Amino acid sequence: VKFGQLPVAACIPLVFVLPFFFVTYGGGGDGKTPPGPVALPVFGNWIQVGNDLNHRNLVGMAKKYGDVFLLRLGVRNLAVVSDPKLAAEVLHTQGVEFGSRPRNLVWDIFTDSGKDMVFTEYGDHWRKMRRIMTMPFFTNKVVAQYREMWQEEMNAVVESLRAAPTEGVVVRRRLQLMLYNIMYRMMFDVRFESAEDPLFQQATRFNSERSRLAQSFDYNYGDFIPILRPFLKGYLEKCRDLQSRRLAFFNDNYVEKRRKVMSTRDGSSDRLRCAMDYILEAEMNGEISSDNVLYIVENINVAAIETTLWGMEWALAELVNHPSCQKRLREELQRVLGEEPVTETSLPRLPYLQAVVKETLRLHSPIPLLVPHMNLDAAKLGGYEIPKRTKVIVNAWWLGNNPEWWVRPEEFRPERFLEEEGEVEAMVGGGKVDFRFLPFGVGRRSCPGIILAMPLLGLVVGKLVKEFEMVPPPGTEKIDVTEKGGQFSLQIAKHATIVFCPVLAA
Ligand code: HEM
Repeated sequence: VKFGQLPVAACIPLVFVLPFFFVTYGGGGDGKTPPGPVALPVFGNWIQVGNDLNHRNLVGMAKKYGDVFLLRLGVRNLAVVSDPKLAAEVLHTQGVEFGSRPRNLVWDIFTDSGKDMVFTEYGDHWRKMRRIMTMPFFTNKVVAQYREMWQEEMNAVVESLRAAPTEGVVVRRRLQLMLYNIMYRMMFDVRFESAEDPLFQQATRFNSERSRLAQSFDYNYGDFIPILRPFLKGYLEKCRDLQSRRLAFFNDNYVEKRRKVMSTRDGSSDRLRCAMDYILEAEMNGEISSDNVLYIVENINVAAIETTLWGMEWALAELVNHPSCQKRLREELQRVLGEEPVTETSLPRLPYLQAVVKETLRLHSPIPLLVPHMNLDAAKLGGYEIPKRTKVIVNAWWLGNNPEWWVRPEEFRPERFLEEEGEVEAMVGGGKVDFRFLPFGVGRRSCPGIILAMPLLGLVVGKLVKEFEMVPPPGTEKIDVTEKGGQFSLQIAKHATIVFCPVLAA
């Protein structure tokens, strides 16, 4: 068992405290709470299950304990849901009851105890933040406003890849700059000139350090076992220091500049130019505070960029490893579009391209366990009682990869979404929801960014496949698609190096 960095000194208080805690939690044995391994005093199940509760390890436990099971991790409860009907309960039927987010000591720091939107509890604050963010980020009008800009940024990637070395490029690096530019242009009407731009380097460093500290298992011991919290002081200080420098970076370089631009404009129709202008208007109207404004920026930095990037990286890697799929996709693009470029408006005419995107999100869901949910009050699920404030995880990856529900789920086969799964959509707005396929979640806390992420994924994949034959680097047969999981993410362990051979015009 790995205890992260449980300091040796931290064990001393436990030796004294253990005997007094010799009361078991009754981990499922009382027939009320969901089944799970028998919990030890103080540690609960932490010793048995360890830290790495990734989507695959949780499948192993679901096979043993059932479609909903409960783990006790010190003082924290964790319920894991692995069945489409129960997922529908959590996300839809009892969407209000399970609509909060758990926090821990570290997330409390990174959200200032819920001043943001993504990690805040369900209630008036969340509702207001989600409403205020919707208009400038998550509508069809926004897509229409920015599709030309997306084209521009993607064409720049295509151009740079034409000059790429024949031994291949780590494609993630080009796409990361592109996605930062897309999101920062939408947010602030600014762009980074190159990957060497010092502001770009600072932004990526701040964001990746934040992800590392928030997703690490190293702070579990203090989060699970309150008596050990003093030993986390140094770690929490590091988080606080990073967060204050990071928010100051967003504020000084971007938010303040938009405030100035806003204050010099009159009431003309051109007043609201980018998303930040709408957010600042909500601040001026007294709806949200300046802290809330900064946390909206922080949330977009966390939720929008890397997630979409992981999706793109997985899709391209799988297309390299499946040349027949790549060929079929190129044929579709050439047949439907001919000389026309791939644009946002052409996506509905490209069913195989959409199938490729869906298959990528099924097999390699960038957020395989969704963002954790939480019930503020005790609730019922599948006939069991879920204690209040339990962290509730839906194993969305398993819903999309369980062989009971999918034909040979381990295969990358986009055709499934044109054949036996032809009805299944990732869009969860109007149509019928299939609770086996939830890469963006569903219901109140579902991903509002789906409206941007799906076209961005389709466009990048479509453009690159139309322009290039993508192959593995010389001397390699396949791209290594080994996974690397975190508390949230499912990434490719080794960033894919791909050779881009321009497709000659017929
Ligand atoms: C939440 C997936 C891109 C903004 C989520 C959730 C998932 C998800 C699974 C949690 C759903 C739940 O808890 O039930 C993805 C994937 C993406 C992506 C796979 C790309 C491939 C984006 C983008 C944006 C965004 C581009 C913004 C521009 C958000 C926000 C939330 C969220 C704000 C929190 C919603 C709430 O708590 O009410 N996303 N996302 N996401 N996502 Fe995304």
